[in-house]
Amino acid sequence: MEEDKEEIIQLGSTLHEDYFLGNLDEPNHLLVALENNKVIGFIHFFVVAGCVDVIDIVVAEGYRKQGIGTSLLEEVEKYNPKEIVLEVSKNNAVAIKFYLKNGFTKVGIRKGYYGGVDGITMKKVIG
Ligand SMILES: CC(C)(COP(=O)(O)OP(=O)(O)OC[C@H]1O[C@@H](n2cnc3c(N)ncnc32)[C@H](O)[C@@H]1OP(=O)(O)O)[C@@H](O)C(=O)NCCC(=O)NCCS
Repeated sequence: MEEDKEEIIQLGSTLHEDYFLGNLDEPNHLLVALENNKVIGFIHFFVVAGCVDVIDIVVAEGYRKQGIGTSLLEEVEKYNPKEIVLEVSKNNAVAIKFYLKNGFTKVGIRKGYYGGVDGITMKKVIG
C-alpha cells in the first residue's frame, strides 16, 4: 500500500501541483485501477449518509479513453449511494464531458472555487 500511495501521489500531481493524499480513514475511500501491479488510475471519495462525494479521479496519461475512468465510477456505484456529487473546474472540458457521459448533470456553480476559476457542481441521482 505504501508503494501504491507513492504512485497515487504522482498521478494526483497531474491534477494539482501540490497534491496531498491525506489520511484515508472513514469516511474516505480509495479505489485503484492496476496494470501489472502498477497504479494506472484511482478514485478518492467520501461516503457520508448514503451519498458519495468524489474528491479526485485520475487515469494515467496513456491509459485514458479506454473506459477506466468509467469503470472506477461504476465501482463507486456498488456502494449503493443515493447520489454522487462532485466539483469540476469550468475549464476542464474533458472531465465535464466524461461526467455528462456517465449520467451526471450540472446542478450549480461555485464562484472562484479553483483559485479564481469557477467550479461546476455535478450530480448523479441513483436511487
Ligand atoms: C477525466 C478522466 C478521469 C476520464 O477518464 P478516462 O478513463 O479517460 O474516461 P473513459 O475512457 O471512461 O471515458 C468515458 C467518456 O468520457 C468522455 N471523454 C473521456 N476522455 C475524453 C477526451 N479526452 N475528450 C473528449 N471526451 C472524453 C467520452 O464521452 C468518453 O466516452 P467515449 O470513449 O465513448 O467517447 C481522465 O481524462 C483524467 O484522468 N483526466 C485528468 C484528471 C482530471 O481532470 N480528473 C477529473 C477532475 S474533476
